[in-house]
Amino acid sequence: MHNTLLLFGATGDLAQRYLFPSLLRLSIDGLLPEDFQVRALALSPHDTDKFRAILRPRLEQALPHADAEQIEAMLQRVDYRSVDLRDVASVASAVHELTHRPCVSYLAIPPGLYISTCQGLAEGGALAPPHRLMLEKPIGHDSVSAGEILQSIGALIDEDRVFRLDHYLGKAAVQNLIALRFGNTLLEAVWNRNYIESVEILVAESEGVDGRDAYYARSGALRDMVQSHILQLLCLVAMEPPASLEADRIRDEKVKVLRALRPLTAEHAQRDSVRGRYTAGTVNGQPAQAYHPPEGSDVETFVGVTARIDNWRWEGVPFHLCTGKRMPERTTRVVVTLKPVTHWLFERPDRQHAVSNRLTFQLQPQENIELGLMSSLAAPEWGALELQPLELELSVPTGLHRRIAYERLFLDAFNGNHALFVRDDEVRAAWAWIDSVSDAWKQSALPLQPYPAGSWGPDRAQSFLPPDIDRQGASA
Ligand code: BG6
Repeated sequence: MHNTLLLFGATGDLAQRYLFPSLLRLSIDGLLPEDFQVRALALSPHDTDKFRAILRPRLEQALPHADAEQIEAMLQRVDYRSVDLRDVASVASAVHELTHRPCVSYLAIPPGLYISTCQGLAEGGALAPPHRLMLEKPIGHDSVSAGEILQSIGALIDEDRVFRLDHYLGKAAVQNLIALRFGNTLLEAVWNRNYIESVEILVAESEGVDGRDAYYARSGALRDMVQSHILQLLCLVAMEPPASLEADRIRDEKVKVLRALRPLTAEHAQRDSVRGRYTAGTVNGQPAQAYHPPEGSDVETFVGVTARIDNWRWEGVPFHLCTGKRMPERTTRVVVTLKPVTHWLFERPDRQHAVSNRLTFQLQPQENIELGLMSSLAAPEWGALELQPLELELSVPTGLHRRIAYERLFLDAFNGNHALFVRDDEVRAAWAWIDSVSDAWKQSALPLQPYPAGSWGPDRAQSFLPPDIDRQGASA
């Protein structure tokens, strides 16, 4: 197991809110090697004592039940170096002395700094075997910039030592999609165009852009969420069964799905997509301000887009993808609606009012699975069968404490397991489709539609949202 982490972007929000707390939990649970060490790197001219003083209250806040000794033990593993990531020599000298140990460099920094940072790492000896590299999303901004990053970094380190993160893959509920699909004959038997009418994937957040303006103004919901998390969920729902759980067998199947995505065209942009941006409103009873990106930025905070997968299994099945910030609630769900019953026997309800079977995988905030069936309500006053919808809750609360995604991903990278990381060809294929959406928007001048914070998106959002979410009311 690799025992040295070089953490770039150590003063940033991601590192302070998620990465260091994850390391603390792993440390408390005894899952890190005895001699585990972190070198924190960022631009600020702190020394180690100052950095630890900044990190201490963040750890106390993130893990209120951790005792002071546990936090001190973690802090003792961390030292700090100030570094200018545009300066190759500065990066090299900040890491070189640690390269006698097996290092994992983690880049929690803007992708524009990836290449110079990696050149510095290479010069400092931190990309040669056995050292590894973990890269946060997004890799680039579009196909061209992603291609440059992949190529430049690919010249410095082998693919089998690169770990590209999509933290959704580290979530237990997301991994459960693989278990459910391939561990159950019942599901796999109906998992195709013959039985499935449509699939909706929704990632709704009640949070706004808050505090990430510079990044978000360049990114928007399409690049921030759809390119990564939503397309990864789509892959897990749509991929063919892999021959084994070996990392590359799973990634081979995912990349096939991404390559089979039909590009969006300007002609269909209006029909197959909607983009919005939140205005002032109320979320969870609290007033929320409008999002105003800086001058020159035209980014959206809401996307609905219908993806079509041009292959044998999914021909004709729309995948409605939807994500937004400042929605009424935080929820991530995959909803699979089955086709109507072939020959309808019943008078009540009549065929028009029959509800199709529906399988809902709620992934966040709680994991839950629901199966919508039709069942009989036979009663003496009604001399025949009357059907009514029946919701079967399939999940049993396990009481198990779900670990946050980064803990799992750290351990996998330290142990060299690639299954939950994104391969270079997946990144390229995902950007190719995202470029088609973004180009179609530009060519068709698809207008940005306002929606009040705390609503389910602009008026046209309904056809992209799961059927159990009613724009006029709350979610079912
Ligand atoms: C990140 C995005 O990758 O995922 C954020 O950059 C988003 O904009 C976040 O808020 C959502 O993650 P989670 O785990 O809270 O659903």
